[in-house]
Amino acid sequence: MTLLVTGATGTVGSEVLRQLDAAGVPARAAVRDVERARPELPAGVSAVRLDLEDPPSWPAALEGVTRLFLLRPPAIARTARLQGFLDAVVAAGAAHVVVLSVQAAGRNPVLPHRQLERRVEATGLTWTHLRPGYFLSNLLTVHRDEIRERSEISVPAGGGRTAVIDVPDLAAVAVQALTGPGHENRAYELTGPEAPTWAELTATLSAVLGRPVVYRRPGAGRFLREQRRRGTPAGLAVLMTGLYTVTRLGLAGRTTDDLQRLLGRPPASVADFARRHAAAWQ
Ligand SMILES: NC(=O)c1ccc[n+]([C@@H]2O[C@H](COP(=O)([O-])OP(=O)(O)OC[C@H]3O[C@@H](n4cnc5c(N)ncnc54)[C@H](OP(=O)(O)O)[C@@H]3O)[C@@H](O)[C@H]2O)c1
Repeated sequence: MTLLVTGATGTVGSEVLRQLDAAGVPARAAVRDVERARPELPAGVSAVRLDLEDPPSWPAALEGVTRLFLLRPPAIARTARLQGFLDAVVAAGAAHVVVLSVQAAGRNPVLPHRQLERRVEATGLTWTHLRPGYFLSNLLTVHRDEIRERSEISVPAGGGRTAVIDVPDLAAVAVQALTGPGHENRAYELTGPEAPTWAELTATLSAVLGRPVVYRRPGAGRFLREQRRRGTPAGLAVLMTGLYTVTRLGLAGRTTDDLQRLLGRPPASVADFARRHAAAWQ
């Protein structure tokens, strides 16, 4: 079994590799820049250059690969750009693809994630679709500075609920699907048991941090202008506005028990996550 993990420098892929390494499972990290990525990778993980849009990089990266963890990089909206790579995966003799998708993919066929899922299904290989909710780790990336510096979160989510997931729990399911049987041709909708409103989420942060963290509820237009003023790239700012508007409309709050069932234990709660990362917002 040879495992290849794409997005190896990213939020989920890096955690998948960390868990594979901790379990003693050999894996190959696919990265665009081996020199830059090497210091960040676990010691037992080998690295290979792979750009999903650069065909000459594919044969060496895919040599001998039997199972693949595949994400859609956020910058690739048109999944037709990934078809050549999928053809190369088949040609390399791989057997199984674990797709990092998104929760709404099961209900929204126009999402690029669903289109990637369909392309993977059409390869004839077996697949596992991981459809996670909102990553709590976003509070350590896009929302970190506003929590740390201004003790606030400003998102146009109104009173809508958000089904959330802790990335290590998501990665644990990815590891199961990459290494064990019984996940062939299944789609998992992965969320923790909680779908907090942003008022509830900031209340949890306030309790853990011991200082008030305020939820500001700007309208979509004001949020977009704020993000642009802070230097968020236009595409990301529009994407974030769309995501939080979906939340405000009440469409992002559905929870499932797939995650708990697969983990065989309760997933991490928002409070667990906040306690573990409190130093990041001090
Ligand atoms: N954030 C959320 O709340 C959330 C929730 C559900 C689903 N998702 C989905 O999760 C996926 C993102 O996962 P993530 O957060 O783990 O990723 P991420 O942290 O945004 O990192 C993106 C990764 O993709 C790699 N990459 C970018 N372009 C590439 C290319 N042309 N070829 C090969 N690799 C490339 C990057 O490598 P470099 O280091 O070379 O740039 C990096 O490792 C997206 O599809 C997103 O929609 C996110």
